[in-house]
Amino acid sequence: MRSTATIDLLRERLGGRPIETIVILGTGLGEVARIQPNDCIVDYRDLPDFPQARVSGHDGRLVLRAQGTHCIAFLLGRAHFYENGDARAMAGALAALAECGAKKMLVTCASGSTRADLVPGALVLLRDHINFSGINPLIGVSDDRRFVSMSHAYDGELAAGLHQAAKTADIPLHEGIYMWFSGPSFETPSEVRMARTFGADLLGMSTVPEVILARYLGLRVAGLSIVTNHAAGLSDLAPSHQETKRVAAQGADKMAQLIAAFLEQDEKHG
Ligand code: HPA
Repeated sequence: MRSTATIDLLRERLGGRPIETIVILGTGLGEVARIQPNDCIVDYRDLPDFPQARVSGHDGRLVLRAQGTHCIAFLLGRAHFYENGDARAMAGALAALAECGAKKMLVTCASGSTRADLVPGALVLLRDHINFSGINPLIGVSDDRRFVSMSHAYDGELAAGLHQAAKTADIPLHEGIYMWFSGPSFETPSEVRMARTFGADLLGMSTVPEVILARYLGLRVAGLSIVTNHAAGLSDLAPSHQETKRVAAQGADKMAQLIAAFLEQDEKHG
């Protein structure tokens, strides 16, 4: 369903440079892109394969930034399954970016933590995920590539690179397993206890569909989450979208420093 209009516009704006890395910025994290004077900004409305609906706390712009001979594509805003029940909401955008050269995807998100030591504001590198939703964005795809292996969904080298970047930028970086809940309602305390028993450190309403789609497209993946709250039942405060946006925005600066250090290092070492 990729339209030539998306690819044509992307190619024109890229001016001959292939995209190397996609960075998806989650709820409240738009500031992480730190838009620069030479960046090329494209509104999702001009890109038919990009998500058109918005959730508060989510922008709808693509920022293309030249870095050496390549470009970084920052997605300010994503579509979620909970918006209209479409797990493939990001499929067209990711396929178009892959067609423009993208090899890697760094996905960011806000999450609720099931662990006492992962407090609001903590940055967590995703080591793996649990998709317990019964939903998969590759349902309905008819080629054999749909049977994509998820054994190494989160790339070991990119993870090591993010740890190195965190060290360089002097930013504490934890590790955890992310479990996808469809949302938009938050979890019950019983669901949170179940998730913890199953090995989940973080709970969220995004990321997993994009990671599956990216692996299908052959992209190497890394994931970073900012903890915005302790999950339901683990604190006196009930999780809320307001709080998610507020805490994510507070942590955006730290996340921006970490991602900038990672991209700089990645450019030097390939
Ligand atoms: N649960 C699910 N998604 C979230 C949460 C949560 O507690 N916090 C931020 N995103």
